[in-house]
Amino acid sequence: MWTYFICLTLHILSAMVWVGGMIFYVIVVMPVIRNQKLKDQKLTLLQLTAIQFRKISYTLFFILITSGFGILFSKGLLREDNLFTFFTSSIGFMFSLKIGLFGFLFVSSVYHDFVSGPKTFLYLESDPVQYERYRRMSGLFGRFNLLLSLFIAFLGILVSRGVSFF
Ligand code: HEM
Repeated sequence: MWTYFICLTLHILSAMVWVGGMIFYVIVVMPVIRNQKLKDQKLTLLQLTAIQFRKISYTLFFILITSGFGILFSKGLLREDNLFTFFTSSIGFMFSLKIGLFGFLFVSSVYHDFVSGPKTFLYLESDPVQYERYRRMSGLFGRFNLLLSLFIAFLGILVSRGVSFF
């Protein structure tokens, strides 16, 4: 029972920090950075805050995966005799959908954080066309990741209350 509550607490807290952190970035950090008073430091601030959030993100992903599987394990759903019944049940399908979307989120975050984001800063002074291309791409992937994370959190809430789309 304790394992379940510890894993669940860690899971909910890391989901809060991940989703809440992204929302905070969009509604507080970005508008502050865009303030005219910070015109000269705008790009440095953007780059430093992005790198700081990137460091936190992958630690949170690790906690979300381990605590998520910890929850399943503590509920006995990963036992060999239960595994097939669970994954072929309607809640099991919901869970598989959640894991699949999480995999998608992971790949999309890696692209945003390690490819399009860094390339935006790389081309900042050398190539305006490439800069604009990667800037748009980073914005697009950033928004997509936030929406996907909200949907994954919503699926988690449904799964934990026994609600399924299937
Ligand atoms: C962006 C990633 C994720 C977010 C935002 C997220 C969020 C959530 C939320 C909000 C809940 C509902 C908790 C409750 O109301 O009791 C939940 C439940 C759950 N999540 Fe996740 N989650 C994520 C990734 C994962 C991953 C990768 C796994 C598995 C490896 C996982 C496994 C679970 C399980 C098993 C539950 C059900 C908890 C219960 O027993 O009630 N989650 N998740």
